[in-house]
Amino acid sequence: MPKKFLCLGVETSCDETAAAVVESPRDSGVSRPVILSNVVRSQAKLHKIYGGVVPEIAGRAHLESILPVIHQALKKSGKKLTDLDAIAVNHTPGLIGALLIGVSAAKSLSLALNIPLIGVNHLEAHLYAWQLRPKLPVASSQKRVASEIYRLPVTGHRLPYPAIGLVASGGHTSIYLVKSPVIYVRLGGTVDDAAGEAFDKVAHILGLGYPGGPLIEKIARRGNPQAIKFPRPDVASGRISPKAARPEVMTGQNIIPRPEGARLAQPGWAAQFNFSFSGLKTAVLYYAKGQNASRQTPLKKGINIPDIAASFQETVAQTLVDKVMEAVSQLSVISHQSSVISHQLSVKPPITDYRLPITGYRRSEAESRRMSGSPMTDDRLRSVILGGGVICNKILRQKFMKAARINGLNLFIPPPALCTDNAAMVAGLGAELYRAGKRDNLYLDVQSS
Ligand code: KG4
Ligand code: ZN
Repeated sequence: MPKKFLCLGVETSCDETAAAVVESPRDSGVSRPVILSNVVRSQAKLHKIYGGVVPEIAGRAHLESILPVIHQALKKSGKKLTDLDAIAVNHTPGLIGALLIGVSAAKSLSLALNIPLIGVNHLEAHLYAWQLRPKLPVASSQKRVASEIYRLPVTGHRLPYPAIGLVASGGHTSIYLVKSPVIYVRLGGTVDDAAGEAFDKVAHILGLGYPGGPLIEKIARRGNPQAIKFPRPDVASGRISPKAARPEVMTGQNIIPRPEGARLAQPGWAAQFNFSFSGLKTAVLYYAKGQNASRQTPLKKGINIPDIAASFQETVAQTLVDKVMEAVSQLSVISHQSSVISHQLSVKPPITDYRLPITGYRRSEAESRRMSGSPMTDDRLRSVILGGGVICNKILRQKFMKAARINGLNLFIPPPALCTDNAAMVAGLGAELYRAGKRDNLYLDVQSS
């Protein structure tokens, strides 16, 4: 690998056509990758009147934008096509027709330039986004473009991994055990609507517009988050998606069935780390429009929209924070060293004083002994990594900061511009995967999930 590795990232999974050039260091962990350019062309205006993304329209718009956007990304980075060392492209998950545009463009460039093609998983890229840094040193006026990184003040423990990762976006809400930038174990996810989808649908119900997240956040500032007690989604004993019931080990974007011998530390985990936001959305609908109302029913007279928005936002945010802290609590000591494929997910007894005030969870010694036995080198889990559009939400960010402080955790949050879909996160993770030995070829396929 050359001293500086230049990677072009391409992202077309949903309603943003994006391209970016990222310069990564040669050695992993030495310094964080630098964004040389990051171009995002949003299609939000095209989809607004429909209240959500229309796949056909998205595909056509990507086709029109992809080459100009790549051209612009190169121009802004000050680099030429021939300077590139590799091309990384998001190939899953997303809308098939949309993904195909980016993947076809990336394949063509890789073939023409004779440089490696690296397929990247969009959700993993969201969890990589915090690592990126802007080109210039961050002045205080530029703070908005820097990741918010809260390190443990007392221990000074600096390693971000292993971590519990949360991706909360329009299409996904999933919790991962992130063992390294390229090893992800999915612990659970939504069984119905994603958190961002719930924001979008509730905004639609309240007649606020699309995309709903920023609009709800704005109007919620005038509301009382405690005004309405919406039901807290709890799926611990509810429905379990087959996928979540049997977690997969994701290495790069190769999804490998859980290896023989790998085990969940406790039965019932899968359900424990699942989310469900559809019931909450319906509760808002009935509250705002009346019992058994449909979306077309007009809003009840005299309802307080800011209060509804603030109470809904509060419920979603607290649910996300509590689940992540629960995951941290459950996986407080995990095996850290692992080869890419043959690693196990196993749990050793927690350090005895480890306790989360938020959940109050504390293992008994007998329980801890039962869960011991991994021969692997362990490391305490001390970090939380966040990513995805919903993480732009200020209330959510503040709640996570508070929980991290209380529980003595490192917290890694990308700036808002890197929470929503972008190609810099794809390029950054692409370079990391290249370093880990991943290569794709022209058979690289797209996958919707
Ligand atoms: O990650 P993203 O850009 O695209 C997907 O991969 O889906 O996430 C978009 C989602 C939308 O549902 C949008 O409403 C939500 O992120 N979002 C927010 C905020 N900004 C964007 N949700 C809550 N609060 C926000 N400030
Ligand atoms: Zn996304």
